[in-house]
Amino acid sequence: MRKKIVAGNWKMNTDLEDGLKLAVAVSQKVTYMNYDTEKFGLIIATPFTHLHPVGQVIDTDKVQLSAQNMADNESGAFTGETSAEMIKSVGATAVILGHSERRAYYGETNETLTKKLEIALKHELLPIFCIGEVLEEREAEKHFDVVKSQIDEVLFKLSEEDFKKVVIAYEPVWAIGTGKVATPVQAQEIHAYIRELVVEKFGQEIADDTTILYGGSCKPANADGLFSQPDIDGGLIGGASLKADDFIELLNIRMKY
Ligand code: PGA
Repeated sequence: MRKKIVAGNWKMNTDLEDGLKLAVAVSQKVTYMNYDTEKFGLIIATPFTHLHPVGQVIDTDKVQLSAQNMADNESGAFTGETSAEMIKSVGATAVILGHSERRAYYGETNETLTKKLEIALKHELLPIFCIGEVLEEREAEKHFDVVKSQIDEVLFKLSEEDFKKVVIAYEPVWAIGTGKVATPVQAQEIHAYIRELVVEKFGQEIADDTTILYGGSCKPANADGLFSQPDIDGGLIGGASLKADDFIELLNIRMKY
């Protein structure tokens, strides 16, 4: 059965000192919690500069370390970029790909993301692949089509074996950092649709094993409604991942259902 995951996306927040404090606080809280780490996962995606030092202070049996982005080339003359190999070499084992902020502000396209996804998988990083529609698309009721094309043009180009190694994060862009969370019904509807697309492409068994996270203003106050839905397997958490108590509370809520 698919893994339930709470993943924190710190974005461009915290200097190293504050980042270490946050990571230690998260790790200390979770290290004494008794649960099956095969069933439930906790991930923190820190800025690149923090990956190595954070990796030294967390309980890596309980907290998985992730990057927030990765180069679309393997090595060479790409000033300012960070490769999959570099990310691996500092102890991270996951990477967020295609976050809407990367798509909107840094021009990431389905083509670049296809390359990134292949490279991440080649280097055995767990990709957390983000999809989701913007407000105008939702208002025009195009959200199903948008999500379908983001999946068709990137994820469904993968082989079945590779697809099984990906976590999907559905994040309606209008709900990210805005405080406007999707209702549980809205989120469940599109998660169920995404799972149905996977059924059509790869079959029921693989669809049942695919982890699909919700992201966008998810916090302890609204997580029960979301995480209790049958097709919402956890959350990709921005703002609330910057407070250790809230973040761990989200894991506790995830484990209730
Ligand atoms: P938010 O961010 O929880 O602050 O809305 C979520 C995300 O962008 O991954």
